[in-house]
Amino acid sequence: MTDSTPDAYGVIGHPVRHSRSPFIHGLFARQTAQHMVYRLHDIVPDLFATYVGKFFAEGGLGLNVTVPHKPAAVQLADALTPRAQRAGAVNTLAMQAGQILGDNTDGVGLIRDLCDNQMVVVANRRLLILGAGGATRGILEPLLQMEPEEIMIANRTVERAHGLAAAFTDLGKVRACGFSELPRRPYDAIINATSAGLFGEAPDLSSRIIDGGTVCYDLSYSKDTTPFLDWCQSQGAGKCIAGLGMLVEQAAESFFLWRGVRPDTAPVLAALGA
Ligand code: ATR
Repeated sequence: MTDSTPDAYGVIGHPVRHSRSPFIHGLFARQTAQHMVYRLHDIVPDLFATYVGKFFAEGGLGLNVTVPHKPAAVQLADALTPRAQRAGAVNTLAMQAGQILGDNTDGVGLIRDLCDNQMVVVANRRLLILGAGGATRGILEPLLQMEPEEIMIANRTVERAHGLAAAFTDLGKVRACGFSELPRRPYDAIINATSAGLFGEAPDLSSRIIDGGTVCYDLSYSKDTTPFLDWCQSQGAGKCIAGLGMLVEQAAESFFLWRGVRPDTAPVLAALGA
């Protein structure tokens, strides 16, 4: 171990005190012998830009960005990766060659967890995404790259779903509707990208969209069940997955961007009980 000052990283959000990112990045750093610290930064929206500017001016090398700052981080970055540009949201900032680079690792995090860890097949399958906010925007491109038969976006506010579908039709078959207009036959996979769970709620859906062959995934970074997954389970879903694995996988991708080393996520998933 060296005596020099460790490289500074962290997660910025509000509220952020329950974040598991320091634990995850701490394990990644130990596993790959990186000399770094990773801290929590609980910062209100009004102070976000000033705080981030100061963090990097003082030598900080990278930040994960979480709720509610992901769209604001797009404005603040000097340059964006293509996937962050498409997502319209940044979850990772990195100081590179004197510039603040904005990236979005949420989409690849979902694909690694869904397809590699959970072995869910997306190609030629019918997918339903619930919600049409920033979380959906961040996962549409990588999901469409897996060539599903189609993606239906259903949202409480139907115009938002139509707007989002229109922005991605160049990448594959994407349609949109309101919850009550959903075709009443089971989907192969349903991904909850709404924030309803934050309020202890699940979207209001017909039970006909689920059967024993349906995989249900909740993007909320939870280890345990969620109101959405409880509902899916009660409708007889084949498999219910909470998004803790996605949290670990998106973190690994951020870590790789910062340090150029890809950590092994399996022991970290095991440590978290995912
Ligand atoms: P995020 O960045 O987490 O996606 P967002 O952009 O505020 O946050 O989007 C939240 C999503 O959750 C939206 O699709 C929202 O639906 P509306 O567009 O109709 O607002 C959805 N949502 C939030 N609470 C919900 C609830 N109780 N039932 C169904 N959908 C809900």
